[in-house]
Amino acid sequence: MQYLSIEGKQKLKGSVSISGAKNAVLPLLAATLLSKNEINISNVPNVADVKTLIKLLENLGATATCENHKVNIDTRGVKSAYANYDIVRKMRASILTLGPLLARFGHCEISLPGGCAIGQRPIDLHLKALEQMGAVIELKQGYVVATAPEGLKGATIIFDKVTVTGSENILMAAALAHGVTKLVNVAKEPEVIQLCEVLRDAGVKIEGIGTSTITIVGSYGELLDMKDFIVIPDRIEAGTYLCAGAITNSKITITNVIPKHLEAVTLKLIEMGFGIEADESSITIIPASKIIATDIETTEYPGFPTDMQAQFMALCTQAEGTSIIDERLFENRFMHVSELSRMGSNIKLKGHSATVAGNTKLNAADVMATDLRASSALILAAFVAEGTTKVHRIYHLDRGYENLEGKFSALGANIQRLEE
Ligand code: EPZ
Repeated sequence: MQYLSIEGKQKLKGSVSISGAKNAVLPLLAATLLSKNEINISNVPNVADVKTLIKLLENLGATATCENHKVNIDTRGVKSAYANYDIVRKMRASILTLGPLLARFGHCEISLPGGCAIGQRPIDLHLKALEQMGAVIELKQGYVVATAPEGLKGATIIFDKVTVTGSENILMAAALAHGVTKLVNVAKEPEVIQLCEVLRDAGVKIEGIGTSTITIVGSYGELLDMKDFIVIPDRIEAGTYLCAGAITNSKITITNVIPKHLEAVTLKLIEMGFGIEADESSITIIPASKIIATDIETTEYPGFPTDMQAQFMALCTQAEGTSIIDERLFENRFMHVSELSRMGSNIKLKGHSATVAGNTKLNAADVMATDLRASSALILAAFVAEGTTKVHRIYHLDRGYENLEGKFSALGANIQRLEE
């Protein structure tokens, strides 16, 4: 197994280019199951989750070639609609193949994704919506067995909760449905918007893109004429690097980003005393004369993203004063707290709220990554800790951060990937 060795007390400098968004390309890869032709996708991040989903699509019968951040994928050969546990357990986003497979074949069997470190991660809203579209859903030996022999029917669906992959699954199902589907309380994340735009460019009539109410005219089972597309930048990777600049109080620039996608994050950094300069595709963070404590409540886009909560918690340990962080989306997204505490942080948990003491001297330690974003928080803490920190189980990081040690080294960090 590999681990990262990170020298503390570092300053960073220079600029780093941000990769394509993992959480945009995953639903878009699933959407290729709706296409009647092969597609070229550019700006694909070279991360484990993308490789896993491509492997799943190949197992179903698709052909794919990947090189240099480009993927050519052809799903015309897909005959099977059975996504086995072995692959789905590696990445719960495999559930994104449920909507497209059911819409295309009228039948599919997908392993229940199971929970993960940050929570139970149910898919009840995905299944309820498909049933409203006429699907018969059964749960058999840990598999979702879905059938819709006459195809899915357009319906009006109100999501009880805003769900990102739930919205994406049903948007894809509705694209091939028989009739019009109206979705209410749909997620508005940029990744959901790009999926809508790619479906629209494939000829699907969609109204309300970017709002919480979307109407889709289904194709009555006709496959779509999908066009090549470029994946949007990863706003969470971008925010993570801005937090690295913040916690080391360094001036760094991130390029190949869409600043609007990061507004909740950059506004929070400004509130904490940092300067932010942005043009149409880059953001520079300017050191703070004093890092000011803040309060954070995670919520759906365009609010403060839950995927940035752990990174900001590490930053808040260095602020002047006490910060309160409320994690409103997931029931167990504080796995990083125990590891940060081992480095000397003083963080008190009460339900979904964390009270983070500032002005904390962090010391290097051997720490363990538990989930994708918690792992990045440990790296940020390591940059300001006294001594050399070792972050173990970094396969969590490799799921969603491309060439992380290479990018941080280019910013002047002393960080190495070593074998246990
Ligand atoms: C997506 O997960 C992202 N993953 C997550 O990013 C992100 O944290 C999350 O959205 C919230 O923004 C991908 O896009 C691949 P949800 P998703 O359904 O879709 C509850 C990362 O680090 N819920 O929006 O699974 C759920 O329990 C990952 O890149 C139900 O109750 O999240 C949660 O409390 C981690 N029933 C809330 O809704 C359902 O059927 C939001 O979950 C579905 C969700």
